[in-house]
Amino acid sequence: MNSSKGIPVVTIDGPAGSGKGTIAQRVARKLGWKILDSGALYRLVALAAQRQGVELDSNNKSLADIAKNLDVIFTPCHEGGVDICLEGDDVTRAVRTEECGNAASKVATNEAVRSALLERQRNFQEYPGLVADGRDMGTVVFPDAKVKIYLTASPEIRAKRRLNQLKEQGINANLPGLVRDIEARDARDSGRKVAPLVPADDAIIIDTDNLSIDEVTNKVLDRVKSVYG
Ligand code: CDP
Repeated sequence: MNSSKGIPVVTIDGPAGSGKGTIAQRVARKLGWKILDSGALYRLVALAAQRQGVELDSNNKSLADIAKNLDVIFTPCHEGGVDICLEGDDVTRAVRTEECGNAASKVATNEAVRSALLERQRNFQEYPGLVADGRDMGTVVFPDAKVKIYLTASPEIRAKRRLNQLKEQGINANLPGLVRDIEARDARDSGRKVAPLVPADDAIIIDTDNLSIDEVTNKVLDRVKSVYG
């Protein structure tokens, strides 16, 4: 299977708060490539399900229908971010809450939801290239990507980063609660049967505990340069 259609793809996977989103945005901006925030798709399925009163159950078939029919528009905005519109409503902020992230990680254990989202994710590929951020970008969605990155960091550091990120967005949270949420989400994401969170065999693992955003971005860009010139 050629999942990447000959279009250059960089996959950036890792646990919650490892910096995937920020790094993916910076790398994509620097290269002038498209971006896929796959977590946003799982968050949107969770949000749409909650709005329709559908249970976030790993066996619930209606969730796959929601995933298939997701009416969503991503509009690039300032500083590499995107505005997200679900069924005509601006949900840019609503999808970023921790509550929505936790709901997304429940929806993400549903195998039918994952297959329903597969083609939608692959369709984000466009020239000159794609930076795809998620949990299974290098293992399932783009297994033949030539640059695969896996970011890690300790739960405490990730919770601190998440706290700052939420504060910047004016969203309230507390550190001990975030550490608990992150550990619970790690366990669910790594322990699930379908597409668990693991580095691809050919991924470069970067421990970001003591690295700045610029240092991580440069490591990824160096790798891209060595592969694509
Ligand atoms: O930003 P953060 O890492 O907290 O979350 P996210 O990337 O937006 O993803 C939210 C949830 O969706 C994760 O906890 C995963 O359970 C799930 N997800 C997934 O299963 N596969 C992906 N490719 C992306 C996200």
